Amino acid sequence: MPEKTTVSVIKCDIGSLAGHHTVPKPLLDIGEKCLKKAQKSGLINSYYVFNAGDDLEFLMVHKKGENNPDIHKLAWDTFLEAVEKAKSLKLYGAGQDILRTAFSGNVRGMGPGVAEMEIEERGSDPFVVFAADKTEPGAFNYPMFKIFADPSNTAGLVIDPGMAGGFKFEVLDVMENKKVVLKCPEEMYDLIALIGTPGRYVVSRVWRARDDLICAATSTTRLSLIAGKYVGKDDPVSIVRAQHGLPALGEILVPFMHTYFVEGWMRGSHWGPLMPVGLKDSKCTAFDGPPRIVALGFQVGHGKIASDDNGDPLISDLFDDPAFDLARREAVEYAVALRRMGEFEPARLSAETMEYTTLPKVLEKLKDKFVGAES
Ligand code: F6R
Ligand code: MG
Ligand code: MG
Repeated sequence: MPEKTTVSVIKCDIGSLAGHHTVPKPLLDIGEKCLKKAQKSGLINSYYVFNAGDDLEFLMVHKKGENNPDIHKLAWDTFLEAVEKAKSLKLYGAGQDILRTAFSGNVRGMGPGVAEMEIEERGSDPFVVFAADKTEPGAFNYPMFKIFADPSNTAGLVIDPGMAGGFKFEVLDVMENKKVVLKCPEEMYDLIALIGTPGRYVVSRVWRARDDLICAATSTTRLSLIAGKYVGKDDPVSIVRAQHGLPALGEILVPFMHTYFVEGWMRGSHWGPLMPVGLKDSKCTAFDGPPRIVALGFQVGHGKIASDDNGDPLISDLFDDPAFDLARREAVEYAVALRRMGEFEPARLSAETMEYTTLPKVLEKLKDKFVGAES
């Protein structure tokens, strides 16, 4: 029997230094301390603590399966400890994404974002974890389509018989809380019809069609739908498996050689170009952005992340690479062009999407000023 192992990424905005731009070291240290303890106790086998802008991110590898109450409680309790620290330092937005107080077995619906994937380990199992700030889960729709369905992106779809038969996409309708599975290439046009609306339809999982091998899992939280009002953006994470009959690492990364537009910049209310960055640039500055994404590469084997002789996980900071300089340059240029338009669409989100941010407050203020107009 192949070994079963779970990769969990759980993240939360628990407070930032100077606005909403980064996670300061004392909070990362709390993550490090608590996950190290959990590793020593045997609850998890490996972990890596990092940040995507103002989101604290926990990558954990363990044997407990998806939605495990002990794993989710570990993340939850660690976030709460970090919130206390953030409050004691009077950091900005302390506890921003903590929307519920009583933990009841699972962090889903409580504020943190979660992507999890239980796998049967292959002979060698390369992974990429993506984490983005100032955007939303649908931001992954475009690259997921490119990676798993577009033969001009992924050469393997054409020339690797291991991928013959294509991939199946689970798409979640986050407004209606319904899901549908569509198979590519056969249902590609239907898939695009849905996921071209990333604020509503989100690619949540991808499987290889010929054997249902799980290859991608994305967080799908909509904080505004949980809280009933805008409380911050649902900055997303995604786990993708690579190689040997799946898209190669390079096919997974190539969509990011150009920037593309995502929703969620400044106050969750603007379009912005997504900028791939290394961890050292994982902070959202100009106009609280531009929206940024980091990518970490690692190997999962024997129930953990392959590590060095000191036990430290071997993590490759994939966007810390001149290959993405052009995308970064484009992102700056497009950002500047959009910002020239100020609060006029399409720089600002459409009125419909703004209903989930701060527009209702503005309309409420103006309500009594409106009078009937002559036709
Ligand atoms: C937060 C975010 C930021 C804030 C903005 C205003 O995740 O995206 O763009 O929305 O900085 O923040 P407040 O209302 O806290 O002053
Ligand atoms: Mg924040
Ligand atoms: Mg954030």
